[in-house]
Amino acid sequence: MQYGYFDDDKREYVITRPDTPLPWINYLGCQAFFGLISNTAGGYSFYRDARLRRLTRYRYNNVPFDVGGRYIYLRDDHTGTYWSPSWQPVCRDLNDYQCRHGMGYTIIGGEYRGIEARTRFFVPLHEDLEVWQLTLTNRRAAPAVLSIFSSVEFCLWDAQDDAANFQRNFSIGEVEVEDRVIYHKTEYRERRNHFAYFACSAPVAGFETQREAFLGPYRGWDRPLAVERGIASNSIAHGWSPVGSHHVRVQLEPGETRQIIFLLGYSENPPQQKFDPPSSQTIFKGSVRPVIAKYLDAGNVERACRALASHWCDLLSTCQVDTPDAHTNRMVNIWNPCQCMATFNVSRSASFYESGIGRGLGFRDSSQDLLGFVQMVPARARERILDLAATQLPTGGAYHQYQPLTKRGNNDIGGNFNDDPLWLIIGTSAYLKETGDWSILDEPVPYDNQPGSEQPLYEHLQRSFRYTLERLGRHGLPLIGRADWNDCLNLNCFSDTPGESFQTTTNKEGKVAESVFIAALFVLAGGELASIAAHRHLDQESATCLAEIERMEQAIRDHGWDGKWFLRAYDDAGRKVGSAECDEGKIFIEPQGFAVMAGVGMEDGTARTALDSVNELLATDHGILLLQPAFSRYYLHLGEISSYPPGYKENAAIFCHNNPWVMIAEARLGRGDRAHDYYLRINPSARQSISDLHRCEPYVYSQMIAGRDAPSFGEAKNSWLTGTAAWNYYAVTQWILGIRPSYDGLEIAPVIPASWSGFRATRKFRGATYHVAVRRTGPGNHVSLVVDGVPVAGNTVPLPSRQGGEVIVEATIE
Ligand code: BGC
Ligand code: NOJ
Repeated sequence: MQYGYFDDDKREYVITRPDTPLPWINYLGCQAFFGLISNTAGGYSFYRDARLRRLTRYRYNNVPFDVGGRYIYLRDDHTGTYWSPSWQPVCRDLNDYQCRHGMGYTIIGGEYRGIEARTRFFVPLHEDLEVWQLTLTNRRAAPAVLSIFSSVEFCLWDAQDDAANFQRNFSIGEVEVEDRVIYHKTEYRERRNHFAYFACSAPVAGFETQREAFLGPYRGWDRPLAVERGIASNSIAHGWSPVGSHHVRVQLEPGETRQIIFLLGYSENPPQQKFDPPSSQTIFKGSVRPVIAKYLDAGNVERACRALASHWCDLLSTCQVDTPDAHTNRMVNIWNPCQCMATFNVSRSASFYESGIGRGLGFRDSSQDLLGFVQMVPARARERILDLAATQLPTGGAYHQYQPLTKRGNNDIGGNFNDDPLWLIIGTSAYLKETGDWSILDEPVPYDNQPGSEQPLYEHLQRSFRYTLERLGRHGLPLIGRADWNDCLNLNCFSDTPGESFQTTTNKEGKVAESVFIAALFVLAGGELASIAAHRHLDQESATCLAEIERMEQAIRDHGWDGKWFLRAYDDAGRKVGSAECDEGKIFIEPQGFAVMAGVGMEDGTARTALDSVNELLATDHGILLLQPAFSRYYLHLGEISSYPPGYKENAAIFCHNNPWVMIAEARLGRGDRAHDYYLRINPSARQSISDLHRCEPYVYSQMIAGRDAPSFGEAKNSWLTGTAAWNYYAVTQWILGIRPSYDGLEIAPVIPASWSGFRATRKFRGATYHVAVRRTGPGNHVSLVVDGVPVAGNTVPLPSRQGGEVIVEATIE
């Protein structure tokens, strides 16, 4: 069963019934002001940091799942009937309900009793506000007299406090109302310099700012008293729960259309200019009035909308493909890069599964995300790399996460995830290949944000590399620390106390447990570092790097191979993890994909054997399982991984993040059919037809799909904020389609299905546009290139000779 369809021409997913299995959401905003919006207008907004600067309140764990958001109510003032054009929260049957999720905007609406209402929500570029553009049309034969009520519930800024510290919160809420604008200014009287505003383009008949006054006692958002009565009481919130609601009255003639614009925005005043007059407690509004006036104007809103569309057009034009497979095209051209931008913007902080208060930007996560967005926003990728590096510790280790607002390491989560530092090398090398901006390596970057500790970024990468070397175990493999990529394989934790965090508890010294995964990551990252050093003519450093990699590869061959696949780890007692010897968890996906991706085992055949084992033991119709057999009980020495019921999350779900590692590994082995088959198994668009089972959005990846040990095998969870976005994008564009930026040019090395006759692609790279046509003339992967009519040896198109040029690349594979 499907709940909608893809409109690829408009780059939209169109939801045609509101009762999707789960809220199907979109992200608004691309710089500082962000919003999450569901297909029934649920969700919330924040400025930069979903925890520290939350504008509107959202109740997680709510029933139903998605209540609270950007709700507009319509009321027929003749009959008193009221409804929501976004279906929720009133939930009347709408005709022609549609939610169109597009690039940075969402349009929701439908018709009820002859009144059509659609609202376009978006955040204009470079502005800290969101626009709700409501268009009403009277399709009746008679005039309609309507009341419109807007609504938002304000969050008292710090979302964590807001959800917890009620003894204080119930007494601090404050608002001002001036010229149809509701200002939310809780705590502005003291240390906050920021406030929110909620404005309306139409004359208002009234307003509410106190939730109890708007909803009425013992009522929810589905039947607000003010709406039911058709009159607002002009309440001014003091304490309790400030909300914003405008009441607008309109009369529409038959066929008449009217637009009303609402703005929800954020603003900061300099501390010396907070109040107007200075001696008062009234917000100084001089700086926001012009912004409000600008966007209450329909012409300006249209222009802002067009600017946003062209911004997205530019972003997506970096890489467009035309292959024989519609799911590949749609995901590569539209939705996968869109999701990559979401992970760039909010990392793992704010979604319908991430509360926005727990996790900021992850060091490992954001470093990997670079693989998916660097080509679209290289300048911002540069900034991200430097921000990440500034949270690195002098030891080369890293804070696991940092807060986006302060850019400071998050002490609550700490560090010692021993894989973290190496990801910085992976991310930086992706940036260098994409941009050729070698100057980034000379940027002075502090450690732990301490002024005076600045060293060139290149030194940070060196320390990342040495961090691993200084922490080797008895097999010469890297010590795992708190955990490696798999946050839940906690080999030094040994927690037997309920509620203790697996992410921060360590009961062992950590001198024994080793990770084969980090060893493979070290080989991959070390190879990049060696190339970077060679490029800088640091031949000695490059050679040292290569020697260390060789030593690590040897350790993997000697102690990381289990006979038919790569071992996962050694535990604190020196026993094998992920071995045929184990009762459960005999084989893990991570080292298979990663080792082969790093080139380990290519010569001696172990790479092929490992991937065949994956195919035999881990691959399912819904994707590749993280491990098998699932852990059936809790193992003290393995930690969180065995805390999950079998088939979920890290305990043998299809953890979509590392499926692409196997796709890349298969591509390295030249097995295009398998690589693309794996790609399609988790491709959201290809799974659209099983939406009742999959349940999450069919246009973005989810972190996981329940594995075959779970009763809900095939059900996805935790959509949007996952490394799956970047890795799949990278796997399909750079390894299956094989259009791959390198230090020296654009490599063309497709490993595509045998049945494909070829494909076309347009790729912007280093200031030129490459028009690539790939034609298959034989069953293999051997590439011959003709560039601008001239045959070129090898499979790398040299760097462009001039900016802005067009390069015609004809590639034949046989
Ligand atoms: C999840 C992991 C996640 C970790 C981060 C765990 O509960 O299973 O996927 O990375 O929490 O805090
Ligand atoms: C999600 C986390 O964001 C990521 O960092 C981690 O690698 C995976 N879970 C696996 O545990």
